[in-house]
Amino acid sequence: MLIRHLSLTNFRNYARLELDLPSGPVLILGDNAQGKTSLLEAIYYLATSRSPHTTSPRQLIHWLAKQESLTPAARIVAQVAHGEGIHTLDVTLMLEPLPGDEERFRKQIKLDGIPRQARDLVGQMAVVLFLPQDVELVSGSPALRRHYLDTALSQVDADYHGALLPFGEVLSQRNALLKQLASAAATRMNWRIGMKGCLPTERSSHSSGSRLWRNWASGPTRSTVT
Ligand SMILES: Nc1ncnc2c1ncn2[C@@H]1O[C@H](COP(=O)(O)OP(=O)(O)O)[C@@H](O)[C@H]1O
Ligand SMILES: [Mg+2]
Repeated sequence: MLIRHLSLTNFRNYARLELDLPSGPVLILGDNAQGKTSLLEAIYYLATSRSPHTTSPRQLIHWLAKQESLTPAARIVAQVAHGEGIHTLDVTLMLEPLPGDEERFRKQIKLDGIPRQARDLVGQMAVVLFLPQDVELVSGSPALRRHYLDTALSQVDADYHGALLPFGEVLSQRNALLKQLASAAATRMNWRIGMKGCLPTERSSHSSGSRLWRNWASGPTRSTVT
């Protein structure tokens, strides 16, 4: 997969950028605050529909666009050479005003001009990002390492990506239930009530968990990671 062309509109400090990229390695040099990191962030966003730096999409839209328009939007478009063909990945991030100073964030995703879901972006353009703060991957918590690997693996294995979301949901349900059970025990409530709710949760966590493990232990994923 190669990015042939990247186009940014009102993304971070780029009011407008049209950039042709060569097929070989690219080194981006520039003074501080020129937009090197923002360029990588745009590419990462297109690949994962998430920013590595912020969970607030508001920060991704150019400050001036927010002053000049009631419905400011940032847009990232890339032409990606993939196998025989060239595909167009297109993400628009919009802020829409709501009554009473509220605002709503909307993300519009298109693949080759056709509206799609955020999850359809994953795998269209595989990226691995390594930032200075990622040295924490070595010394930090296992959750950081799991998240990093999950992001990378999801892009090369659609089954793995599909199993991640239900697994995460079931895991947090199970943890919430375990907390309830612990406080029920503390207040001498009836454990059996909690255990009834626990059993189906355990079952579904095992099912999506085992799909994740299966994908880890066999098939193309494993050879990609090692
Ligand atoms: N939403 C935004 N609108 C306009 N400028 C922004 C926005 N977010 C960040 N910036 C500015 O963009 C500049 C580029 O930042 P960055 O990409 O981190 O530069 P570099 O990595 O080259 O040092 C910084 O001056 C930052 O303040
Ligand atoms: Mg930087």
